[in-house]
Amino acid sequence: MSTTPVETRPMGLVVAIDGPSGSGKSSTSRGVATRLGLRYLDTGAMFRGITWWMLREGVDVHDAAAVAARAEEPEVMSGTDPSGPGILVAGVDVSLAIRSDDVTSAVSPVSAVPAVRARLLDLQREVIADGGIVVEGRDIGSVVAPYAQVKIYLTADSSARAERRAAEEGGSDIDATRESLLSRDKIDSGRATAPLVMANGATHIDTTPYSLDEVIDQVVALVEAVGEHA
Ligand code: DC
Repeated sequence: MSTTPVETRPMGLVVAIDGPSGSGKSSTSRGVATRLGLRYLDTGAMFRGITWWMLREGVDVHDAAAVAARAEEPEVMSGTDPSGPGILVAGVDVSLAIRSDDVTSAVSPVSAVPAVRARLLDLQREVIADGGIVVEGRDIGSVVAPYAQVKIYLTADSSARAERRAAEEGGSDIDATRESLLSRDKIDSGRATAPLVMANGATHIDTTPYSLDEVIDQVVALVEAVGEHA
């Protein structure tokens, strides 16, 4: 049974940044948090962390019932420093391991399991509760923190996303990277629980023509505009 608390509105600022894989969410979120002196939560890293643990335990990640049965078990602790957030799962620092191909190909089916989402929703809301935070994911503005004062939905052309992601991964094949991104998008957008959607009240930024600094500038301006009207 989920212990998900009723959504509570933190006193401080929450900036929700959602969008598909490779749209620039992580770099933008970290950049905005650093410039504004806010904390940062990478919810994708939490889904990757629980996926890493399922693989380590030999759970069949395509068997939703098997994944659900173990979803409450691993302890997941997320750091919130934008310059090096770090993540511990069952006491192991998995900051690098969660970026492996094995985890990347298993994370979408694991994140589609409602028991996994309920478990991580509790943890995400605990971290967000103190406010003063930029939170990135797929369902932050729609489900996790719908009260966020600033909600951003980032997208980019699939070719631009694949090029950026392949460069981040140290020169992976661009076509294969694009296929992997599109296949994850399909699962993330099509799942029944908390699919990737643009939240009500979100500002859509297509990052294709902009540099990272330009996107950060746009988001910082939106946050500052909210502050002026608070
Ligand atoms: O942002 P990322 O690529 O590291 O996210 C990894 C996966 O986690 C992504 O394919 C979907 C899932 N995810 C999710 O379902 N909900 C979130 N809030 C964040 C990530």
